[in-house]
Amino acid sequence: MPLVSGSTLLAAADKDGYAVGAFNVNNLESLTAIVSAAEGERSPVILQASQGAIKYAGLEYIAAMAQVAAARATVPVALNLDHGTSFTQAMQCIRAGFTAVMVDGSRLPYRENAALVSRVVEVAHAVGVSVEAELGRIGGTEDDVSVAEREEVFTDPEAAARFVAETGCDALAVAVGTAHGVYRGEPKLDFERLAAIDRLVAVPLVLHGASGVPDGAIREAVRLGVRKINIDTEIRLAFAASVRSTLAADGSVYDPREILGPARQSMEEVVREKMRLFGSAGRA
Ligand code: G3H
Ligand code: ZN
Repeated sequence: MPLVSGSTLLAAADKDGYAVGAFNVNNLESLTAIVSAAEGERSPVILQASQGAIKYAGLEYIAAMAQVAAARATVPVALNLDHGTSFTQAMQCIRAGFTAVMVDGSRLPYRENAALVSRVVEVAHAVGVSVEAELGRIGGTEDDVSVAEREEVFTDPEAAARFVAETGCDALAVAVGTAHGVYRGEPKLDFERLAAIDRLVAVPLVLHGASGVPDGAIREAVRLGVRKINIDTEIRLAFAASVRSTLAADGSVYDPREILGPARQSMEEVVREKMRLFGSAGRA
């Protein structure tokens, strides 16, 4: 089937109380690993491209690969821009065929963030593309986006409600204690804050920086209203560990398929586990 919009998937997740995984793609192997996991688990799935992925693989290649994968798939697939930086980039993605865009204006003052998101919402909604925004600042590093611990700002529930009402965004990424990249200690989520945000905010909530968050905390976050969960780092770690072990086992191997095949399998296993954890397995 063709790519579906992000809101279609999140509305179904909201109705039935589970979260859809949004997994970062960088190349053909990661993309096919994720879609194959979704098929295996009968799960809806969101593919997403970060700033680094766009630089590495190119917008058009990512969109074309995702369109082919979705057309061949028997489960619904959406394609999202992850941490979009500008109005221009959001428009380029929509034109290339993305069915969801995140506009990350969290580095901007509230007014400017809201103005940027509203502008993208107006155009995106006209063509059936959904928009995710971020309020507060999620810590850590993902590709070009880096937020030091001292710059982290947790999302204020009342400001979040105002922001969603003012902008008309379809989903909201919240800062409640997660961070991008590899955690040094165990992350501690602010569940009270998450519950308060969910009480006041009408649209589905998004959890970024979910790699390395303990399973129990993920389940609680889903119970409290998180409907989209982003995973990048754990896929990269699985990829790197597999490539290292293949080359360590046989230093003479030179066929990319012998190196990348097992890596694709390792990435698929990570994604399948997450789909079961998020409750999206068996929903498609
Ligand atoms: O936007 C992408 C995710 O927030 C990635 O988070 O580094 O914990 O996998 P992660
Ligand atoms: Zn993120």
